[in-house]
Amino acid sequence: MERNIPELVKQLTLEEKAGLCSGADFWHTKAVERLGIPAMMVSDGPHGLRTQDMSQTDRDTSIKAVCFPTGCASAASFDPALLRREGTAIGREARAVGVGVVLGPAVNIKRSPLCGRNFEYYSEDPCLAGEMAAAFIDGVQSQGVGTSIKHFAANNQEYRRMSASSDMSERTLREIYLPAFEKAVKKSRPWTVMCSYNRINGVYASENERLLTGILRDEWGFDGFVMSDWGAVADRVKGVAAGLDLEMPGSGGVNDAKIVAAVQDGTLAEETLDRAVTRILNIVFRAADEAAAPCAALDLAGDHTIAAEMAKECAVLLQNKGALPLKKGSKVVYIGGFAAAPRFQGGGSSHINVVKADSALDAAERHGRHIHYVEGFPADRDQRDEKEFLAAVEAASDADTAVIFAGLPESFESEGCDRAHMRLPESQNNLIARVAAVQKNTVVVLHTGAPVECPWADDVASVLCMYLDGEGVGEAADALLWGDANPCGRLPETWPLRLEDTPCYLDYPGDGRTALYREGVFVGYRWYDARKMPVRWPFGHGLSYTGYVYREPQLSAPEMEQDGSVKVRVSVRNVGARAGREVVQLYVSDCTGTAGRPPKELRRFVKISLEPGEEKQVEFTLTPRDLSWYCEEIGDWYAAPGKYKILLGHSSRDIHATLELTYRSDKLLPLTVDENTTLGELLADPRTAAVIKEIMQRYGTALNGGNAGGEGVLSAEGSLQMMEGMPLRGLVNFGGLAAAQALPTLLDALKKAVE
Ligand code: BGC
Repeated sequence: MERNIPELVKQLTLEEKAGLCSGADFWHTKAVERLGIPAMMVSDGPHGLRTQDMSQTDRDTSIKAVCFPTGCASAASFDPALLRREGTAIGREARAVGVGVVLGPAVNIKRSPLCGRNFEYYSEDPCLAGEMAAAFIDGVQSQGVGTSIKHFAANNQEYRRMSASSDMSERTLREIYLPAFEKAVKKSRPWTVMCSYNRINGVYASENERLLTGILRDEWGFDGFVMSDWGAVADRVKGVAAGLDLEMPGSGGVNDAKIVAAVQDGTLAEETLDRAVTRILNIVFRAADEAAAPCAALDLAGDHTIAAEMAKECAVLLQNKGALPLKKGSKVVYIGGFAAAPRFQGGGSSHINVVKADSALDAAERHGRHIHYVEGFPADRDQRDEKEFLAAVEAASDADTAVIFAGLPESFESEGCDRAHMRLPESQNNLIARVAAVQKNTVVVLHTGAPVECPWADDVASVLCMYLDGEGVGEAADALLWGDANPCGRLPETWPLRLEDTPCYLDYPGDGRTALYREGVFVGYRWYDARKMPVRWPFGHGLSYTGYVYREPQLSAPEMEQDGSVKVRVSVRNVGARAGREVVQLYVSDCTGTAGRPPKELRRFVKISLEPGEEKQVEFTLTPRDLSWYCEEIGDWYAAPGKYKILLGHSSRDIHATLELTYRSDKLLPLTVDENTTLGELLADPRTAAVIKEIMQRYGTALNGGNAGGEGVLSAEGSLQMMEGMPLRGLVNFGGLAAAQALPTLLDALKKAVE
């Protein structure tokens, strides 16, 4: 419906405008009845609805809804189409129950495996997280329901999340912690953004003008409204000025009064408040208009089936020494409490009130599998019962295959606190080790929201990671274990060998005031690759019951022009006997000699379905941004001219094809020329190379390094390095009096060259 929002804003009183900038309660914006402004309901999010049942007084009572695969699992699908389907289903449910905005997706980067909320987040890699988020937003919003991408930004720990300051370089922020938001905002235009609790370099996200206005709106073009995370507001007036429009859930009117006072005393411009109100009204009316159209009724049974189908696409087969798929008719024992009570979602604000989660035992019964079950250990705590333990070991030694359903109990991993360590409960590790000792066909099925140390990995045959795969997890585990479905998930994060190997081990979670991001851009595989460290399972890894070969990798041109693009193509063939789905991953490696770049970075990926023997060609388009890093000196993305490698493969450590690309560009970084500029810098820069060579010729061998080489102590390489490191000041001294006297003239000539 056409509405004149600027006119409405004029008719609102100052008090009404301030009031509209905070929630009416935990889940609603305010209505202004006299002007026909409706309230709008919001709901968690992100992998299913946690919508308050308004007929109940207890605000923790949610309606029944479907739990789809959580962020850690859905990202493991490496399939934007799946995220779109998930978003569509959640958007449909939201429409059916009158929700205007779903509070998700949650896209914070997994800096440490210990973050209690990693199960809600997508990845350690910003490219993967961004693509997943964009697809999810497209899905939800296709149903006429908005999203709130969260938590903006750099909220990577739960410890003191409401006060800690995530302190990092601008480059780290731009390359690692912002791009998932950037991609989703530019590509899918979420209706709203939720700012995070924490501070960034000392400034609260909720009053961070550079983030909420400078970057989000001015640079990326965001046109919706920003809401606070629940209770994230520190100084409300500063927040409005910075670009925080809606405070949730509200402050009982205290902050509204502060806004009114600030406008009255001139501290806050009324136009700034009007802008916030306008942005909120735009979305509130958009939601109301969408809600006026007819929609489908809630179909929990139908959505359960969809959730189970999705769950199969998200599980990752981490290891398989032939024990999977299970052989029909063989003697199989299921061990572990998670077989009967799988963990399929995480604790906290995303917790969904499901009708029923499916267990592997339920599914086995449904499919008429003949299996024996021994609990062995409980799913909800670390407890060893001697009788159960021994019964499990005995049953395992007696079977053809033992499948252990293990994982993290809910109390080990949840919103609000970080994990203290990366281990499974001791009772589980002990039992897995004992079973593996008596049964070579031991399979471990994991239910965790983040990596765990797997000290028994080399002793068991197979490992299947279900992550927290939503309420259809039992059906999915059954289908994958018995070969009715072919695993096709990939790790959206590195599984390190041990906690001590992780990039921020020394700094995580910090002292509660400051979280120092000293590892910089070296997060996840960027770190393990740079340090050439062994890992348990690398980023992008995941096995299948079939096999793939990569053929005919090619570039549309060997060179990319500045502001141009190239296409990368490769054919992939399914060389096994089963249909499967392969994820083709494209990484870029900078070989220009630029210091401080990770060895490789994921820039594109695609998931394709292949019948046995079938071959398909995939094509990616790369642009200069894909070669770039964020240069603080120029405040922009920058790619040095020179050589890059394009790596195509099955995982970050299983590269099947390498292509060489030359980037042509005349954009060079500024070079400061003064008497401390080194010979190396001057020789490396095409603008100064010729000038300095000529100067060296003019002033003879001393300047050419003959002197340093003549000392007989340094190797040729050493003397070259020494010469290259020499500043102009030192260099002219070697050249004798004439050269020293000529320094001002030399400097002039070099400065002109870089102008
Ligand atoms: C969480 C948000 C959530 C909100 C509402 C906060 O504590 O951080 O992710 O959307 O609560 O439940």
